[in-house]
Amino acid sequence: MSSSSQSLQFTDSESHERAPIKKVHIGHEPEIGQIQQEIEYDNKRIDQKQKNTVTAKDYYNQQLKNTETHRRISKLYYLRNFQNWVKAVLINEYSKKCNQNKLCFKLLNVFEMGCGKGGDMYKWSKAGTGLWFGIDISSESLKEAERRHKTQKEDKKKQIQKIYLMETKADSDSTLFRSRLPQDIYFDFVSMQFMANLLFSSEQAVENMFENMTCRLTNQGIVLMTITDSNVLVKKMREFTTKDIEGNYVYSRNQYFSIKFDSLQFSKNKPFGQQYYFYLEDSVGFKEDNQIKYVPEYLIELQAFEQKAKEYNLEIIENLNFIDFFEKYKQKHSDLLKIMVKPPSDEWKMPMDQWEIAHLYRVVVLRHLKGQAQPKIRRHPHLTELPDSVLELDNE
Ligand SMILES: C[S@@+](CC[C@H](N)C(=O)[O-])C[C@H]1O[C@@H](n2cnc3c(N)ncnc32)[C@H](O)[C@@H]1O
Repeated sequence: MSSSSQSLQFTDSESHERAPIKKVHIGHEPEIGQIQQEIEYDNKRIDQKQKNTVTAKDYYNQQLKNTETHRRISKLYYLRNFQNWVKAVLINEYSKKCNQNKLCFKLLNVFEMGCGKGGDMYKWSKAGTGLWFGIDISSESLKEAERRHKTQKEDKKKQIQKIYLMETKADSDSTLFRSRLPQDIYFDFVSMQFMANLLFSSEQAVENMFENMTCRLTNQGIVLMTITDSNVLVKKMREFTTKDIEGNYVYSRNQYFSIKFDSLQFSKNKPFGQQYYFYLEDSVGFKEDNQIKYVPEYLIELQAFEQKAKEYNLEIIENLNFIDFFEKYKQKHSDLLKIMVKPPSDEWKMPMDQWEIAHLYRVVVLRHLKGQAQPKIRRHPHLTELPDSVLELDNE
């Protein structure tokens, strides 16, 4: 590690407001009358609200502008690079651990839920992945993933021998993957990046998510997740919120992102389905005629998350806000930080408004305590019966 890379520093995390350690159990239970009033009020606003939001599926199908060139000219260039560094470190750390423990043999099998345009395929390829299975609701993103793989230079995709792509629907039985995945495939890793907040709409949806994560995950298999940090979101809303003309609570102190809540009362007994609306420039939602179109997402209440994970034999082994993750790994992965974040100088600090956005996110890593033994899984199964919905790409 060079001394110059050690001196590379970002804005001091201590100077930023931090997430409270406590969990997100906030507010009091609303009275029944209050709930009814809120429902009536909500119904009146639904029409208006729909005009200002866009569904995740529609948004991600439309959003193809975010290509490599676009990323380079984005105002949030360093943030994007930083987010990619976090994902690369996660993949690097845990794939190495898997190999050191001699749990995996040769090349990894990876399942990526909400893979989008396949931006992480190359990171997995570098980490020694032989089989990568990507699932998404956006057909347009999957087409782009296919195109990227086909045009990727040989050295970038050299390890990955088999790529599978599958489109899923967000709102039907087909959200359960168990019977839709080819019989012989098991995974050492499940990766779910910047996506789980779209799924926490109800307890059933969360159970489906965990069922999908674990149905083909090996024993000791790892789940890598990046999520929005509900503690930080709620703290921001409570401290700096303003009300818009429709009576929503809005956080808009940063020119690049905005969060909107209907209510700032959260019930302990309702940890799932706590909706908020999110906009992040070039990434989530968009602006039209100076009006923000938000994407609906859901808070992930960490205690309920941990409890549900346990029911699916998953234990949390790492759980850090991005800022703490950076503090933990910045020295060890300083070379990667330089290559990926591309700071203009060693003394450079990430601009405060982008650092604030990094603070909105959290890394969660889980380990599976059940499932097929890793040495027993076939690394490159020859799939004779591939479901119609699955597209297979060889590494030509
Ligand atoms: C913020 S993007 C993240 C993409 C990618 N994981 C990354 O890190 O760049 C969220 C992705 O999740 C996908 N998605 C949303 N809901 C989904 C669902 N129910 N099942 C599968 N994918 C979904 C979207 O289409 C989008 O590609």
